[in-house]
Amino acid sequence: MRSQLFVPGDSEKKLAKGLDAGADCLFIDLEDSVAAANKEAARKMAREFLTSARKLDKRPLLYVRVNALDTGLTDADLDAIAPGRPDGILLPKSQGGADVQHLAAKLAVREAENEIPDGATQICCVATETASAIFGLSSYRGSSRRLAALTWGAEDLSADLGAETNRLPDGMHAPVYVLARNMTLLAAVSAGVQPIDTVYPNFRDEAGFRRECIEARRDGFTGKMAIHPAQVPIINEIFTPPATEIERARKIVQAFADNPMAGVIGLDGEMLDKPHLERAKKLLARLGTAL
Ligand code: COA
Ligand code: MG
Repeated sequence: MRSQLFVPGDSEKKLAKGLDAGADCLFIDLEDSVAAANKEAARKMAREFLTSARKLDKRPLLYVRVNALDTGLTDADLDAIAPGRPDGILLPKSQGGADVQHLAAKLAVREAENEIPDGATQICCVATETASAIFGLSSYRGSSRRLAALTWGAEDLSADLGAETNRLPDGMHAPVYVLARNMTLLAAVSAGVQPIDTVYPNFRDEAGFRRECIEARRDGFTGKMAIHPAQVPIINEIFTPPATEIERARKIVQAFADNPMAGVIGLDGEMLDKPHLERAKKLLARLGTAL
């Protein structure tokens, strides 16, 4: 999935608008964008939205961002939304693989209660929202078959650090957040799950947003979260591999298939060996799935 659009779970208008935004996935939010007094209303609205949106022929993936495991709110969130059969759960403030397993156990119970196939609900974690979470990044590998993606966040991490800001005057992230970003990328690839880049809060700054999408794709992220519908088409454009790149990947795989004894080959004047083949196969594996 290239684009994941956050939609506050207590806004009927934005939920409806989110469906038409062209996002590959909606992150229906019960956490930070919903005030404490609105949590119960948001749970109900989210369940009703899930139930009706699931009936559509063409729809985005539907994930729900629940409240963090240490808030005491997660069970009520899951109880309320489980009948709506979300495709996945976005877990904020995740500390590592043990949190994934904890959530997976909670999901297994709700799946059994709601006649949902065991293991059907996927998990994506926001993996860098506290300083201690950074040290849990290596524990995602092998934690659960439900784990589908890792993403990162600078806003809550800067609050935990007591930092003045997480962006430099030119709009780039300050070094400690770049570290968190890069560690998330490494952790996701190491765990064999999708690396998703964080949000760009300044939603009127299209140039800055494009730059951040291009840098994320360059480094290996395969999607980015959005907070505003206007960001979605830009993400989809930038994270869709161009036809020329797909064609080139097919040629590389074919060239190695035609020369099974060769470790290295020349193609169009370029030396190709195993890492090139792996990269080409990885790109083709994304096609036809969720990109
Ligand atoms: N999902 C769906 N629709 C959205 C949306 C979103 N995330 N953000 C804005 N819209 C809608 C607005 O309701 C508005 O609809 P309208 O034209 O029918 O009135 C339209 O898109 C244009 O919105 P705009 O006026 O540009 O922005 P805004 O001031 O209404 O909203 C935010 C700005 C930041 C409050 C809003 O984008 C938002 O709620 N984003 C998600 C926040 C979130 O979930 N954060 C948690 C993760 S970090
Ligand atoms: Mg947050």
